Amino acid sequence: MLFVLGFARALVNENVVREKTLTDVSAHRRVAVPTATRAPHAVLEVPRPLSRTSGAFAPDARSMGADPAPLDPGALTPEQVQKFQTDGFLVLEHFASPEEVASMLSRANALVEDFDTSKHPRSVFSTKDQKRTSDAYFLDSGNHVSFFFEEDAFAEDGALKQPKRLSINKMGHALHDLDPTFAAFSRSAKMKALTKSLGMTRPTPVQSMYIFKQPSIGGEVSAHQDSTFLHTSPKPTCTGVWVALEDCTTTNGCLWALPASHGEPVKKRMLVDREQGAGPETGSIRFEGEYPDWLGDDVVKKKFTPLETKAGTAVLLHGENVHYSAPNLSPVSRHAYSVHFIDQGVASWDDTNWLRRKEGFPFEPL
Ligand code: FE2
Repeated sequence: MLFVLGFARALVNENVVREKTLTDVSAHRRVAVPTATRAPHAVLEVPRPLSRTSGAFAPDARSMGADPAPLDPGALTPEQVQKFQTDGFLVLEHFASPEEVASMLSRANALVEDFDTSKHPRSVFSTKDQKRTSDAYFLDSGNHVSFFFEEDAFAEDGALKQPKRLSINKMGHALHDLDPTFAAFSRSAKMKALTKSLGMTRPTPVQSMYIFKQPSIGGEVSAHQDSTFLHTSPKPTCTGVWVALEDCTTTNGCLWALPASHGEPVKKRMLVDREQGAGPETGSIRFEGEYPDWLGDDVVKKKFTPLETKAGTAVLLHGENVHYSAPNLSPVSRHAYSVHFIDQGVASWDDTNWLRRKEGFPFEPL
């Protein structure tokens, strides 16, 4: 999850009328999630491989010596919580059902089909260009389903080098509130059980992204900590749930995570200075702090773990965990969906975050 953009191509099109591609998106209407998806036991059928440790039971029952109660789907075992706390990340196989994976792939395809590139700013997502200080389209994307192109999607004359569906880097950042398919998954009972089992008292999704990692041109995401971009006070509470929608390998740009790197405070923060009363789309981006050159240090680089994951596998990421993904130079795409939570029960969203909601469109807890 990184947001620093290459804006040059966007500027070429700055006078183009911007069209929000979906009616519900342009109206900022939060979609209603069916009650059934919020009920504790009315979840889609999900296999129970989360309990990779056999005989997994709720900790309270275990400690009391009572008959252990099975965990709700999505809830972590005590052993899984411990491993997450030790490593700063956790791989959860089969977290999304094949039906959920198919549904999200299909929905993303439909969104891209409806996306009109001729009426849209060509905002590029890059983790390398940190020079630009503002981009209204990006800063407002927490209120929409916005589209960002791969850096290498365009020829010198500005035309796309390949079909639209193979040119987009990601969509974001309010899928979890504006799109029915992604809202249902992001706010499912098992997502609530997962975040609650981590101790979150008021888990609240604040940002969502559909990441395409396109064949041949899928951009690198350099090593970073998610709390750099999503911070809360008085303490960081950002936790990411990244879900593979296609098989991810070292060949097509899987995640790499640095075990136990979450033990220290976040190294760098992205801040946006806005005028009093200004809207989300305005402001200047700046950074405080610096990242070490994690990948430039051979000793550290060797400690990164490749997370090769099958479609449906989730990776739980602590906000201070250091992770990256390499470019996808293979002919195989690597789609993933990512949603980030904060705990509004113990912390508040910082006004200096890049992502700001419009009036009347607040973050809502699960
Ligand atoms: Fe990230």
